[in-house]
Amino acid sequence: MKKTILLTLVLGVFQSLSAQNQLILNADLGRDTISHNIYGHFAEHLGECIYGGFYVGENSKIPNRDGVRTDLIEALKKMKVGNLRWPGGCFADTYHWKDGIGPKNKRPSMKNVWWGGVTEDNSFGTHDFLNLCEAIGAEPYLAGNVGSGAVQELADWVKYTNQETGSPMTDLRKANGRDKPWRAKIWGVGNEVWGCGGNMKVEYYANIYRQYATFMTDWGNNDHLFRVASGASDADYNWTEVLMRDIPHNMLEGVALHHYSVIDWGKKGSATDFSEEQYFRIMKTALYMEELVTRHSTIMDKYDPAKKIAFVVDEWGGWYDVEPGTNPSFLFQQNTMRDAMIAGTTLNIFHKHCDRVRIANLAQTVNVLQAVALTDGEKMVLTPTYHVLEMYNVHQDALLLPIDVKVNNYSFGTENLPAVSASASRDKAGKVHISLVNIDPNHPQEISIALRGIKTSGVSGRILTSGKVQDHNTFERPDFIKPADFKGALLNGDMLKVTLPPVSVVVLELKN
Ligand code: AHR
Repeated sequence: MKKTILLTLVLGVFQSLSAQNQLILNADLGRDTISHNIYGHFAEHLGECIYGGFYVGENSKIPNRDGVRTDLIEALKKMKVGNLRWPGGCFADTYHWKDGIGPKNKRPSMKNVWWGGVTEDNSFGTHDFLNLCEAIGAEPYLAGNVGSGAVQELADWVKYTNQETGSPMTDLRKANGRDKPWRAKIWGVGNEVWGCGGNMKVEYYANIYRQYATFMTDWGNNDHLFRVASGASDADYNWTEVLMRDIPHNMLEGVALHHYSVIDWGKKGSATDFSEEQYFRIMKTALYMEELVTRHSTIMDKYDPAKKIAFVVDEWGGWYDVEPGTNPSFLFQQNTMRDAMIAGTTLNIFHKHCDRVRIANLAQTVNVLQAVALTDGEKMVLTPTYHVLEMYNVHQDALLLPIDVKVNNYSFGTENLPAVSASASRDKAGKVHISLVNIDPNHPQEISIALRGIKTSGVSGRILTSGKVQDHNTFERPDFIKPADFKGALLNGDMLKVTLPPVSVVVLELKN
């Protein structure tokens, strides 16, 4: 009788843990580097991303540096922003950069036609943005206006920001108080030109692109511009095909893609109050990134087998209904552990494809879509997404280590998704990091990791998790979800056993 009870208990314990997931880490292999630019962000003149988010104004009571709130600067420095894309988005193709330079009280106002028709007073312009990038240590990524701008306007912007001296644009920059150029490298040639950026056909855009790119040069500085063609939406593979076929490759450094995780554009659902079915469907669209990246890359491989041209996922993230009572055009949404799952799994996908994916931008940094920070007057809260990006920053500019995975399913109804996502890298100091995500909200996942090609004397780690996938931080409870030390990893020789709680992100560091 006693034996039967014991057996039942043991079986019970095993059943509550799913069958073991098996990973093999090949620490002595590795070829490609995970660019810090995969850890890019996006800041559009949309809702309260710039005004009320980044920029509170020089005279604000909120502590600021040149009008940008200092608590946010510090948080972003800690998180490590690879690059920051600005000023849009759809806004970029209505933006005329010369409206945003010179004395602030003399700048013209315009209507922000894409995002709520609010007045844009241009008080945050080119100097403000490029100085902000310097303050947080991010590379600037400027999105040029192709839809309603002109070739000369964009060529002038490049001269204004990048040329040392010798043109009316450099004189103008100096007159506006900046002697040395910023040397902004990454430039978008239009945004979503198939839609808000001009409703163009791809063949027409490929021609226009060639014209714009001709006049976007580094003006003899030898720090070549990185020009990004406005890319496909989701699975529009023909778009990528035509860009790769019709644009000479010496004029093209990157081809973009936009993919948002959304259930249904007409009925996106609440950011916080969602069912397990809605969670599953969002994770399915997030994990679809793997197929999108693979298939677009295959097309690029056909034209560019040496992988000189980068794939640039310059808008990604979860998109839900706005918070009740907020302006529907401002796209303000809360951020839960669901978003942490999107962030962790998507970054692992980008790592895996880092030979081609060399820039990516999460939409958007503050107060808009899948934000890393939310603000309300003086208050600021860091979201679960922020914490994942901060934990993952150990992978920036590290060597991707191949990892073989055989994992359990997270099942809902008749559908399955891989429950566990993993990635590993070795940084410049020789430290190996492994990032793991368990998206299953109902079961912990036990993982065995065979460590090949490395001698490890110990393991430490950090975890982000919470009781429910709907959990989130609020202005009243800003630290409800935050990283903690992780004690669930056991090293036995060259085998590592890890137990991930439901809905968790873990980053491990192997001791040499
Ligand atoms: O990120 C919000 C909007 O989504 C961007 O302005 C646009 O490029 C995309 O459609």
